[in-house]
Amino acid sequence: MGEVDPAFILEPEHRPRISYIEGKGVPLIDLSPILSSNNVSAIEFEGLVKEVGDACKEWGFFQVINHGVPLEKREKIDDASRKFFAQSLEEKRKVRRNEKEVFGYHDTEHTKNVRDWKEVFDFAIQEPTILPASLDPDDKEVTECNNQCPEYPPELRETCQDYGQEMLKLSYKLLELIALSLGLPADRFYGFFKDQTSYIRLNHYPPCPTPELALGVGRHKDGGALTILAQDDVGGLEVKRKTDGEWVRVKPTPDAYIINIGDTMQVWSNDRYESVEHRVMVNSERERFSLPFFLHTAHYTMAKPLEELINEQNPAKYRAFNWGKFIANRKCSNFQKLNVENLQIYHFKISE
Ligand code: OGA
Ligand code: NI
Repeated sequence: MGEVDPAFILEPEHRPRISYIEGKGVPLIDLSPILSSNNVSAIEFEGLVKEVGDACKEWGFFQVINHGVPLEKREKIDDASRKFFAQSLEEKRKVRRNEKEVFGYHDTEHTKNVRDWKEVFDFAIQEPTILPASLDPDDKEVTECNNQCPEYPPELRETCQDYGQEMLKLSYKLLELIALSLGLPADRFYGFFKDQTSYIRLNHYPPCPTPELALGVGRHKDGGALTILAQDDVGGLEVKRKTDGEWVRVKPTPDAYIINIGDTMQVWSNDRYESVEHRVMVNSERERFSLPFFLHTAHYTMAKPLEELINEQNPAKYRAFNWGKFIANRKCSNFQKLNVENLQIYHFKISE
């Protein structure tokens, strides 16, 4: 990634500002009231539910501390990720993503048709993960996808599996808090994840000679229910603040996880909680590593506003769409430069 290929260069209006605001940032939420060893009072618990609900509504993003994920599990996957990416391109490309294998290594992802300054390794939580065989909406055929595992580091597979289990535990706690904040039973979302398509992504953003012209990840929204992100101490993640549309940097907090609402949750909540745009800046000196976990429903899930949250005064804002086809469509446009915008939930919006 030495010299800058024009494929990475953003249109002037989307280029990042090198000086950035660190003003009122995303809320920081302490999850200790729900750690299993704690005896929590009803008032404390209700306070937490409200805090989560407010953060979802006002920001679509928040950070959590005292989340119960053991630090050593995070350190282990971080270490495995650094070892993997430190290898030669030739070595990494042995586990490259291709037409048949959707998980694995890739270094040519595009966001909104501009190339991202990064390389990634994707690892599915469920093996095999069942996905639609094609983008064709009428084609019901599915395909079984397995993980590709590199020879080095040998512990990568087990480390990712372990970390994935921790991410699932945290996801279910968060889903409960979010469900309660919407006035729903705590377990309301559980059923959607039986045959989930969730995955962990290892991200590596190498130093970039022209950080003012390119982005690590261009502005985008995450498609799933939730994303749980671990970022290192370099920083670079920016969130579009809902109140004024400014890009705000999420300051790295040691051992915190950054949570964001994805498109699926926006649809379920009928726009009460919105999936917010974010992007990643790169810099010329330091490489950056991050670890998102994307919580995704089963491929056959029809995403649509929850019945309990709609009524005559507040009718459904989206028509139902198939999650598997939606994500397959997105993934396809992320890997090649197309001349059209990729699929977004507003394409399913019911006009008012
Ligand atoms: C993503 C993403 C943020 C980061 O991969 O969808 O937003 O900090 N990543 O790497
Ligand atoms: Ni994202």
